[in-house]
Amino acid sequence: MSNRILVAYASRAGSTQEVAEAVAKALREQGQEVDVRAVREVRSLEPYAAVVVGSAARIMRIYADAVSFVKQHRAALQNMPTAFFVSCMTMKEDNEKNRETVSGYLKPLTALVSPAAVGLFAGKMDASKVGGLMGAMMKKAKVEDCRDWEAIRVWAAGLPAVFFSNQPSSP
Ligand SMILES: Cc1cc2nc3c(=O)[nH]c(=O)nc-3n(C[C@H](O)[C@H](O)[C@H](O)COP(=O)(O)O)c2cc1C
Repeated sequence: MSNRILVAYASRAGSTQEVAEAVAKALREQGQEVDVRAVREVRSLEPYAAVVVGSAARIMRIYADAVSFVKQHRAALQNMPTAFFVSCMTMKEDNEKNRETVSGYLKPLTALVSPAAVGLFAGKMDASKVGGLMGAMMKKAKVEDCRDWEAIRVWAAGLPAVFFSNQPSSP
């Protein structure tokens, strides 16, 4: 059976897409076959042996398309190894309180599917990529990129062992 992994992301300003691509790169470095797709583009999980779902958060909520994706594919995800990650500015400071807050953002997903692994990462704030009134209000804010590529790589590199350790090894 193929061990192809899907990394599905929800991103509005593009930074979580880049985190998803970094996750995929680290998985490929571990010898895995990987597809990276926006959650909205995924039609079927049939080709996959495991799935990583990543999202950012705005106003204390992970993105609605990540929640819709997990709702829609709930039955399949419950039967395969699944990991979730969040990339957001609360994790700029990695401490117990912020981990608890950001773990809370994942509740709409973890209520549906129990993850084999969870990654909580700092994100990137770029007001020029935020639309509407919110973007206009934040216009003068500096771009702040807090993504820790090494932490992301280390987490992702550990996923194959978590996902597939119970599988019988090939002869
Ligand atoms: C309007 C707005 C609201 C945000 N609200 C939160 C929040 O409640 N908690 C948090 O940790 N990060 C928050 N963030 C930070 C984003 O999660 C972070 O910038 C993330 O990396 C954006 O991901 P994206 O580029 O994939 O959309 C907010 C960002 C914006 C622009």
